[in-house]
Amino acid sequence: MKIIEIVHEKCIKCLECVAECPSHFFLNEKNDSENIVLFSDPYSSCIQCGHCLSICPTDAIIYQSIEKMINIPKNSMDFDTLFPQLKLLLQTKRSIRRYHTDPVSETKIKEILDVMKYAPSASNARAWKFLILTDPKKIKTLSLKIVKTISLTRKLVTNFFIKNFFIYGELRKTIKEPGFPVSLDRIINDSLAGKDPIFFDAPCVIFLYSPKYGNLAGCDSGIIMTYGMLVAETLGLGSCWIGIAQESLQRLRSLSKFIGIPRGHMVWGCFTLGKPVPKFNQIPPRPDLSVIDIS
Ligand SMILES: Cc1cc2nc3c(=O)[nH]c(=O)nc-3n(C[C@H](O)[C@H](O)[C@H](O)COP(=O)(O)O)c2cc1C
Repeated sequence: MKIIEIVHEKCIKCLECVAECPSHFFLNEKNDSENIVLFSDPYSSCIQCGHCLSICPTDAIIYQSIEKMINIPKNSMDFDTLFPQLKLLLQTKRSIRRYHTDPVSETKIKEILDVMKYAPSASNARAWKFLILTDPKKIKTLSLKIVKTISLTRKLVTNFFIKNFFIYGELRKTIKEPGFPVSLDRIINDSLAGKDPIFFDAPCVIFLYSPKYGNLAGCDSGIIMTYGMLVAETLGLGSCWIGIAQESLQRLRSLSKFIGIPRGHMVWGCFTLGKPVPKFNQIPPRPDLSVIDIS
């Protein structure tokens, strides 16, 4: 999306674009005796957030884009019902680890992606790329490959020299926790018993990847993936972020290559998607957030 110019005949000089543009590219200038609004972006550094288009009441800004603007229907949001509904959605969204095998329809996947695209990103970078697996055989094979790397890790972390001399920092702390080998054994044993301890036999897995960029790529990823998982709930689909697969794909090129992630790209996250088996009756307790009192 690119801003081209302002149609002065349409501009009512409300100056909302001047106030709204995060980069201050809209200027209120005197031209002869008249005030006019100008768009000035000499270095083409507009982040294309579209706030100017969104706020202009008279469609006075000409832009170039394949996608069209969408009118926001007047009084369409009833906040009295929206807040409790949204709160309940957020409180009841659980990570789903048991799925029906019914495939997720392409229509639903498209509907989810169509909302995800509205997620915010630092400087509107929108660097995200997605890879979606729906082939049960491919999902299962990836799961088995990940379990294989976990089995190898299990062997390595019990080796005294590797544990104490070759692994540093956070990872050394993690592997020294008594529960760590136990959790790896659970995954390995579940897999040996024919279960899928990685993707839980979900019929769909969505991977987010992109070239490495900036310091805020992880935030951009967390937000868009959360958008996706929450929208999925409203379509009757459960989900679970699969950090263990994300980490395995980040570490081993052979795994990311297996699913088709191009070289030089980072996998920022993945979540399973499918019709959930469990029906939860109550919202589990969560401690209050730790907040520094600034009053
Ligand atoms: C970044 C991230 C990574 C996660 N990785 C896994 C995972 O690999 N496997 C899994 O079963 N759950 C995973 N989870 C789900 C968490 O265990 C879950 O969110 C947490 O226990 C709270 O449960 P709830 O989501 O049902 O409220 C992950 C969640 C997040 C946010």
